[in-house]
Amino acid sequence: MDVASTREAVKTETAKLLYDGRTYELPVIVGSEGEKAIDITKLRNQTGLITLDNGYMNTGSCQSAITFIDGEQGILRYRGYPIEDLAEKSTFLEVAWLLIFGELPTRTRLEGFTNEITRHTMLHEDYRRLFDFMPKSAHPMPVSAAAVAALGTFYREADTEDRMHRAIVRLLAKMPTIAAYAYKHSIGQPPMYPRNDLDYCANFLYMMFATPCEPYVVDPVVAKALDLLLILHADHEQNCSTSTVRLVGSSLANLYATIASGISALWGPLHGGANQKVIEMLERIAMEEGNADVFIRKAKDKNDTTRLMGFGHRVYKSYDPRAAILKRTCKEVIERVGASSRLLEIAMRLEEVALSDPYFVERKLYPNVDFYSGVIYQAIGIPVNMFTVMFTMGRLPGWIAQWLEMRKDPSFKIGRPRQVYTGPTKRAYVPLEGRG
Ligand code: SDX
Repeated sequence: MDVASTREAVKTETAKLLYDGRTYELPVIVGSEGEKAIDITKLRNQTGLITLDNGYMNTGSCQSAITFIDGEQGILRYRGYPIEDLAEKSTFLEVAWLLIFGELPTRTRLEGFTNEITRHTMLHEDYRRLFDFMPKSAHPMPVSAAAVAALGTFYREADTEDRMHRAIVRLLAKMPTIAAYAYKHSIGQPPMYPRNDLDYCANFLYMMFATPCEPYVVDPVVAKALDLLLILHADHEQNCSTSTVRLVGSSLANLYATIASGISALWGPLHGGANQKVIEMLERIAMEEGNADVFIRKAKDKNDTTRLMGFGHRVYKSYDPRAAILKRTCKEVIERVGASSRLLEIAMRLEEVALSDPYFVERKLYPNVDFYSGVIYQAIGIPVNMFTVMFTMGRLPGWIAQWLEMRKDPSFKIGRPRQVYTGPTKRAYVPLEGRG
């Protein structure tokens, strides 16, 4: 499996640390986009010190050649290709190949990859019965995490090149089937088996919305909108769920279990779960105030837990380029499918009010990928509680690419952060009778 090599950052300058009467020199490395970092690999051995960085706000966990984000400029590139170009000209499976293997595939390679994936979309009949034991009321995210982890009970460890490739194909192929089966089970309908005559997105829409009693004709505009959504979610460097995948994968845990950990991290409402929260927020505004100004006041109020979901980002301190693309796509899809534009209008009013409010401007809070994605998902008929599962389908190639890059990194080590202990110092054990 030929994967692009991870280019090493270049050691250029040094940083001086004055501590306890001594001067320590720490190497400064520079990445291909000019980002600089102090390499503290030897800090503890040299100084006895560790660093502390709540939420890893200032800490790089790895060197990576997969995705570049410039939060100040609102730039996102997969393997050097601007997200705007890929959104306009590429397809999700082509982007998946690019992220995982490092280069745009030739036509032959893409056709081969597509055929491999098409031929692995079905689920083993014994495995399929897993869904029957899940409560119908269960959220599809823990169902998806459990189902992906359970793939490890059917398939061998990805411990050789060939098995790694087959595991990657299986995950990409079966994720849409797993997602659709989780949904069908939750509404008491029989699953629809995948069809090899449909492409990736059309097949998913078919499995979601066809029934044995009624055919479902895939609208190519809807399938294209879904393909775009998956491209935009495909990778985002070291976000919470990707960092989870790298950390769990660094113990050499099974790839299926590793991806299942990423699904669990993505579910959080501060991360991928935000897309569901955005629609619930827009629907609440539509039902209650219908007034964006009232909601914005609550989102700013420190005594109110309300947050403007889909706004703000740890890295983007400008408009998330994915949100800009999705905002443009919303109108096209809504018009094409004849859906209500009510929630889009509320979202756009919220954005207008927020971006003219000093609270949001001073904190550099802009719409992120989750702010408009839900409007499109809803317009194409995806149920709200499936929105984060859609994010999972999109992010899957990114998690795989980051896992593979870590596993192929010659300096690979198990992740094991340190801590600053603040608990009780040494004290004698007090027998039970002596505790009063
Ligand atoms: C994703 O990392 C990635 O790349 C993630 C992602 C990906 O593709 O993988 O891009 C996908 O997860 C997008 C983010 C989805 N989450 C949300 O939309 C939830 C709402 N947003 C926030 O909770 C928040 O903005 C975060 C979690 C996204 C970022 O949080 P940070 O970087 O820890 O920032 P913070 O919480 O410290 O906020 C800084 C200030 C605070 O106010 P002060 O203490 O300075 O007064 O901004 C305020 C926050 O209260 N703030 C908000 C806000 N987001 C931040 N106030 C109101 N509404 C918001 N949405």
